[in-house]
Amino acid sequence: MPQTARSEPAALAQPDGPAAALLAWYDRHRRDLPWRSPPGTHADPYLVWLSEIMLQQTTVAAVRPYFAAFRARWPDVAALAAAPVEAVMQQWAGLGYYARARNLHACAQAVAAQHGGRFPETEAELRHLPGIGAYTAAAIAAIAFGQKAVAVDGNIERVVARLHAIDTPLPAAKKLIKAHAAALLTDERPGDFTQALMDLGATICTPRRPVCTLCPLKAFCQAASRLTPEDWPRKAAKAARPERGGAVFFLRCGEDILLRTRPAHGLLGGMSEMPGTPWTSDYNLADALREAPMMADYRRLDIRVSHQFTHFTLTLDIFAADVGEGARPPQGCRWVRDVDAEALPSVMRKIVAAVRSSGW
Ligand code: ADE
Ligand code: SF4
Repeated sequence: MPQTARSEPAALAQPDGPAAALLAWYDRHRRDLPWRSPPGTHADPYLVWLSEIMLQQTTVAAVRPYFAAFRARWPDVAALAAAPVEAVMQQWAGLGYYARARNLHACAQAVAAQHGGRFPETEAELRHLPGIGAYTAAAIAAIAFGQKAVAVDGNIERVVARLHAIDTPLPAAKKLIKAHAAALLTDERPGDFTQALMDLGATICTPRRPVCTLCPLKAFCQAASRLTPEDWPRKAAKAARPERGGAVFFLRCGEDILLRTRPAHGLLGGMSEMPGTPWTSDYNLADALREAPMMADYRRLDIRVSHQFTHFTLTLDIFAADVGEGARPPQGCRWVRDVDAEALPSVMRKIVAAVRSSGW
């Protein structure tokens, strides 16, 4: 096919348009985040990828210490690929959504083995990697490689829904919001543009109290002119989160605690835990001891621990017992001295802390 002489004109930001206002604001007020590069330069794709995986479902404040620890321990993708998956799971413990950690490691290995240790630059290629979905591929393409890709996270969704006073509720409005976000995007600095919208949503256009008087987009915003911008985005009524119950068996042998490893896939896949009953909606305290992993003189502690998972709320009873020195661990379990060095998910850490503070 013959090439046309003309190329597409670059969609530059109108000097008095929303993109220019947003970028000017970003240059003055951007958050100083450890995965970001100095203005005008491209960030390290490894750090961008690592941060984006961590930031899925997790706040910047919670991610910071994990990001620092991963970066110090595994400074590049080759180092992470060479690490044992158990070490990665253990370093991830407490951050939640543990399939992310397993995919993180699988992705590092794929980049090392199939791409010579360099992340591919296009959304399409990025999407083939483990753990990288549409949002993350677009975010990496824009932020690390300066590609014109639209990554819409929860913050951007809120800002765009307000800018256009979109009355369709979420999640139905997602497509429309993405189209509006794409229309705002210009060829100039797409990575900074994306992160500027994220920062605006995190610091100015917040869920409860947007500070429109400080907002660079106020002149372009339909929600701001209606006096109650916090009424957007509209949301479909949520179903109540169901409740589940269960019991854990906190067995101590001298200074050791009895642990087992959960199946590799599914909820908290591959993480460590104290043995317990299944977590069910019809859990019955009176039957719990039938599921005990070994004979012991159990005492039910006077505390219960609750934890919110995405799809249910869990409340656990705790049965504690000391067993004599030299007791053999039951099948599938092991005695562990240094519990803090295990890949223990947050719900299990809460139980350890609750037992310690109970004085038992
Ligand atoms: N949330 C997800 N990615 C982010 C980024 N690059 N900056 C700020 N918040 C984010
Ligand atoms: Fe959000 Fe107000 Fe800015 Fe509109 S003007 S984007 S509602 S902070």
